[in-house]
Amino acid sequence: MLTKYELKMPHAVYSGEDALGRIPEIFATNGVKRLVVFTDKGIEGAGLLEFPMAKVRETGVETVILDDLPAEPSYIEAQKLVDQCKQCGADFIMAVGGGSVMDTAKLASILMTDEYGIKELLDEPGRAKKCMKTLMIPTTAGTGSEATPNAIVAVPEKQLKVGIVNTEMIADYVILDAVMIKKLPRKIAAATGVDALAHAIECFTSNKANPFSDLFALQALDMILNNIERACDDPEAMDAKNTMLLASFYAGVAITASGTTAVHALSYPLGGKYHIAHGV
Ligand SMILES: NC(=O)c1ccc[n+]([C@@H]2O[C@H](COP(=O)([O-])OP(=O)(O)OC[C@H]3O[C@@H](n4cnc5c(N)ncnc54)[C@H](O)[C@@H]3O)[C@@H](O)[C@H]2O)c1
Ligand SMILES: [Zn+2]
Repeated sequence: MLTKYELKMPHAVYSGEDALGRIPEIFATNGVKRLVVFTDKGIEGAGLLEFPMAKVRETGVETVILDDLPAEPSYIEAQKLVDQCKQCGADFIMAVGGGSVMDTAKLASILMTDEYGIKELLDEPGRAKKCMKTLMIPTTAGTGSEATPNAIVAVPEKQLKVGIVNTEMIADYVILDAVMIKKLPRKIAAATGVDALAHAIECFTSNKANPFSDLFALQALDMILNNIERACDDPEAMDAKNTMLLASFYAGVAITASGTTAVHALSYPLGGKYHIAHGV
């Protein structure tokens, strides 16, 4: 066991019924004037963006929506959104989506500079500092990206996926509202639920495991094993879905304190070369 360990987490996390209702308060606290929303066409097509946007409209804050993002983007595709974000003059980032959307939004939050981009961070991830605060609203349960300092992009020339780690990317605010995963298709719910399960197991068994990561990994494991099937199979099981959302956040906290191991190491070539979805 390591003798030194630490825990870094988002500034505030809101969960439970109508957690999305906290959006106006978060904007007021941060004096948000112009918002940029990262999402993707799948989220919009499922009608999910409407839930947080209804709360955003209450605030009257000007909003730009960036949604031209494929699942599991390459660093080039993610950089395109970062560049659009630079042009739009926003002062706060809200991400509504799965790991692909949240990772891209987190990269944007540290890349509002022309000095370097995602390509440069692949070699030197530590050089970037936070430029804009972020609110993460996950729609899968999930990658735990809303808790972690990691962003994963595909690097086509290497046929690999690569993780960029920088604690400046840890979200400022997180909203875990089960309404966002209520209609998550069964296949995605299962794959992303197993991703969270793998996070918990790998963080607990890692050489880097420590009292902080053990606490979150074990609790996540218990919650996932007891809820994943119902959350996937029963569209009305909001308690199980809410528990999965919490558990994937906990597993993300465990990643931050410890780290994933062999199974996730395999996912980098499997995703990069064969384009197999991360959770699968
Ligand atoms: N940063 C981290 O710590 C971390 C950890 C694990 C994985 N990841 C990365 O996250 C990405 C995978 O994220 P993911 O598994 O959340 O999937 P995703 O974000 O790639 O989304 C997959 C598909 O599901 C759709 N979708 C998402 N939520 C939906 C909903 N509620 N209803 C209907 N459709 C929905 C999306 O539109 C998309 O088409 C990979 O790039 C992976 O490497 C990051
Ligand atoms: Zn994972």
